[in-house]
Amino acid sequence: MQKIKLVLDRDYAIGAVDERIYSNFVEHLGRCVYGGIYEKGHPTSDEAGFRGDVKELVKKLNVPMIRYPGGNFVSGFCWEDSVGRDRPRRLDLAWLTTETNEVGLHEFYDWAREVGSQVMYAVNLGTGTPQAAKDVVEYCNHPGGSKYADMRIANGKKEPMGIRTFCLGNEMDGPWQMGQKTAYEYGRVASEAAKMMKWVDPAIELVACGSSSSQMPTFGEWELTMLSECYDNVDYVSLHRYYGNPDHNTEDFLASSMDLDEFIKIVASICDAVKGKKRSKKRLYLSFDEWNVWYHSLGQDEEIKRQRRWEPALPLLEDVYTFEDALLVGLMIITFLKNADRVKIACMAQLVNVIAPIMTRNGGPAWTQTTFWPLMQASSMGRGISLLPILSSPKADTKHYNDVPMVDAAATMDEQGNVTVFAVNRSLEEDAELLMDLRSFDKFAAAVHSVLHHEDLKAVNTEADPDNVRPKAVPIPVPGDGIDAVCLGKASWNVIQLKR
Ligand code: AHR
Repeated sequence: MQKIKLVLDRDYAIGAVDERIYSNFVEHLGRCVYGGIYEKGHPTSDEAGFRGDVKELVKKLNVPMIRYPGGNFVSGFCWEDSVGRDRPRRLDLAWLTTETNEVGLHEFYDWAREVGSQVMYAVNLGTGTPQAAKDVVEYCNHPGGSKYADMRIANGKKEPMGIRTFCLGNEMDGPWQMGQKTAYEYGRVASEAAKMMKWVDPAIELVACGSSSSQMPTFGEWELTMLSECYDNVDYVSLHRYYGNPDHNTEDFLASSMDLDEFIKIVASICDAVKGKKRSKKRLYLSFDEWNVWYHSLGQDEEIKRQRRWEPALPLLEDVYTFEDALLVGLMIITFLKNADRVKIACMAQLVNVIAPIMTRNGGPAWTQTTFWPLMQASSMGRGISLLPILSSPKADTKHYNDVPMVDAAATMDEQGNVTVFAVNRSLEEDAELLMDLRSFDKFAAAVHSVLHHEDLKAVNTEADPDNVRPKAVPIPVPGDGIDAVCLGKASWNVIQLKR
């Protein structure tokens, strides 16, 4: 068994964990809204048509903020269609379906508040204008006495919604986007929209679109050029990244979080380069507003779009996640925690049915995928301060990555001084013995160790077997002077809570 040393010191902190790194995303796409969070006539649905079983699972996931309403969808979306009584049906060119607008801004906002989440609202800067972006801020947040604020009041919401975080469009570098722009064009329009939106409500925070992934040919140049135009008027830059394992090379797949780390560091460096160039005092933060594993459903989606074009609520992007996908999700969360000083928002894409931790059957039950567990555990236990994990682990090369540590870990400390360690053993063959050196901490009174493991890397949860992959508590000695060894089984996600 390999011995791995982890040193944690209460004085060595990366930074405060912004709880919004456990956020999520609901797009008008596939069955995320219709048949996901909302299903009129479902046995568990409330009067407004929102599924009660899904609400319970979302609450359990403990989601601080939800990005809405897209995604690619937002680049052709007219927000006024989604409020008031007159709701037109529209062709959605992003996903080749029909949007009924049955669920709109008010319904989603009320639902989000009920499940305990803030709304992160994306405005349309594809086909939309700075004027329309300003109008929606006025509609949501202005107290009254103006056209759009009074429209909100007439639509039944007297108090302003107080939405704090807005995305300035979505993936505007992508040719698949309605209203794709060059970096300069986008930087200019984002800057003008941002100015007007903040004039209406100076309390809002704005996310500028970074590249739609680090694989884009314009990555880097895009960030540099567009930020040169809008740096002073925005607060965050977005990052999006999805990974897959189509070649079934699990070692390489599990090393993808190293690429994620590099992506974060490069975007942070570009933000700081623009800061230097502008002699600005302002620091930009990162909003990783789309991240996940996504590849299982890609083939079948093309077929569905070809055969059922324009049908509403098509079953698109319904990836069924494996146990190894859950390990990568855990590694991605560890990476966000290790970059807590810079990454302030991260939204798993998406919440229900669409590349999601929660699945439903229309008229039937809801259940949790394998990927639900690491996100749920981190959101519940990974708050407070992110501690610097000084880890000595053996390393190996994979097809695309060099020096991949066998074990990766992050640790948080809450206000009471309780410490939680999140660790993944990437090895598919060998267990690891984690030796925790907790030099500056007083004795802990109790310890709890939860493990997510399955002998079959491709194991999944289904409606018929929803608990096939789920965490189990394993015995752990109460820590003595400094904690003793903890076994991290091969291919496992581990949460070790040390309680005072
Ligand atoms: O999350 C699915 C899609 O992925 C989003 O609509 C888009 O922004 C990204 O390309």
